[in-house]
Amino acid sequence: KILILDFGSQYTQLIARRVRETNVYCELHSYDVDEAFIRAFDPAGIILSGGPASVIEEETPRAPQVVFELGVPVLGTCYGMQTMAAQLGGAVENSMQREFGYAEVRAQGHSALLRDIQDRVNEAGHGLLDVWMSHGDKVTVLPEGFKIIASNAATPIAGMADETRRFYGLQFHSEVTHTLQGKAIIARFVHDICGIGYDWNMPDYVEEAIGRVRSEVGSDEVILGLSGGVDSSVVAALLHRAIGEQLTCVFVDNGLLRLNEAEQVMETFAKNLGVKVIHVDASTEFMKHLTGVTEPEQKRKIIGREFVEVFQRESAKLPNAKWLAQGTIYPDVIESAGAKTKKAHAIKSHHNVGGLPESLHLKLLEPLRELFKDEVRELGIALGLPHDMVYRHPFPGPGLGVRILGEVKQEYADLLRRADAIFIEELRASGWYEKTSQAFAVFLPVKSVGVMGDGRTYDYVVALRAVQTQDFMTAHWAELPYTLLGKVSNRIINEIRGINRVVYDISGKPPATIEWE
Ligand code: XMP
Repeated sequence: KILILDFGSQYTQLIARRVRETNVYCELHSYDVDEAFIRAFDPAGIILSGGPASVIEEETPRAPQVVFELGVPVLGTCYGMQTMAAQLGGAVENSMQREFGYAEVRAQGHSALLRDIQDRVNEAGHGLLDVWMSHGDKVTVLPEGFKIIASNAATPIAGMADETRRFYGLQFHSEVTHTLQGKAIIARFVHDICGIGYDWNMPDYVEEAIGRVRSEVGSDEVILGLSGGVDSSVVAALLHRAIGEQLTCVFVDNGLLRLNEAEQVMETFAKNLGVKVIHVDASTEFMKHLTGVTEPEQKRKIIGREFVEVFQRESAKLPNAKWLAQGTIYPDVIESAGAKTKKAHAIKSHHNVGGLPESLHLKLLEPLRELFKDEVRELGIALGLPHDMVYRHPFPGPGLGVRILGEVKQEYADLLRRADAIFIEELRASGWYEKTSQAFAVFLPVKSVGVMGDGRTYDYVVALRAVQTQDFMTAHWAELPYTLLGKVSNRIINEIRGINRVVYDISGKPPATIEWE
């Protein structure tokens, strides 16, 4: 197993992810863990992460000396490489020139770490790598026993190795996907250099996660807000396995869910899995509070506030609960940390990211905190959740509330649900559901004239939205086939009385957003 020591880089968790992707078990710990812990952990290799500090300054983090005394391979990344160099007798200086973003480095073919790993070869036969750099300091003098294994003009020592002791340093971040060969480099380190086999997989992770939840909550009771989305569904399945009857889920139907969603959630969890689920039908209450409200942010706030109120009321009925479980996943953790420091502009207030207010007086249980979305999905499958549920498109917390423009009315929600279901059904049938990241219908409360049979119609408009994106921060509209769009349009207009026109949204994000409100 691999021990990752964290010096505070925003990419540390990505190292863990890359290691897990190579099917090797790893744990991430702070750089200042006890020496005794490290010895007892008995790692087959150690990775030192990057970090925001500068080794040139005093009192900045150092790797515990034992790291270099265990006789196991060590890979230092960015700050990890710099502290390795400084601790082993090399030198680090502040660069005049910061290097940030894409860079090309030349790999020296002799090193066990980078041999035959390259994106291109130059005329001289040297391997070239496309990498991601993010540093101000750099190593300027190699420690004794080290050779240069990668370099470029800005950073002559972009990689170093002491092949005898099997110590490696890389100035660039092999853990980010922008370093195209990053995965191969990490695989090389863990499999070939540390000699670890393919010994870790999702079923193992399930067992481990179950063990961790059990030891964390003991015999306490836990409440979970189940939304039917991927993350909370996976948490429900995991906790049910781990603590069975100690888990109670609260499912709030706000009247703004997709067609048959409440029934599906109850069937999957309560009926099939035997999870305790309290189904609260609060749709009338939500509708009442939304009456007359047209401004998007105000609608979002009302839906968010109502949710908290209903949830609090329900959880008050479970006085023994000590924990609130949440489906927080790793990107949420980075984003909320980023939001604190960056002060991003609030384009939309997301009500389910901040979590429930502290007034609940419950301890937070976040068993997916270290996983990425695709790992959460894998975990869901390993826990036996249905494929369609685990690979579902995301659905916003305020639901149809932000897909009905302007005032939300029961009539609009009912029309929209049916149109959306037709769209999704046709996407699935044509194989386009998996090719899009998110797709849905939007209700436009404007009427236009049409003709059906011999009669005039004067009905509402539905817009279809389908996007492709990696991270939902930017998105392209999906180039759905015209035949598919035609079929969806026909079905919606023919099957749903009250809608006589369908349009397709061809706006990218930015400048548009994915949701219309
Ligand atoms: P936008 O519309 O900002 O959406 O481009 C980006 C992604 O976020 C989802 N979204 C939300 N998700 N609570 C959520 O959990 C919300 O309040 C919310 N608003 C938007 C949206 O569906 C898309 O996937």
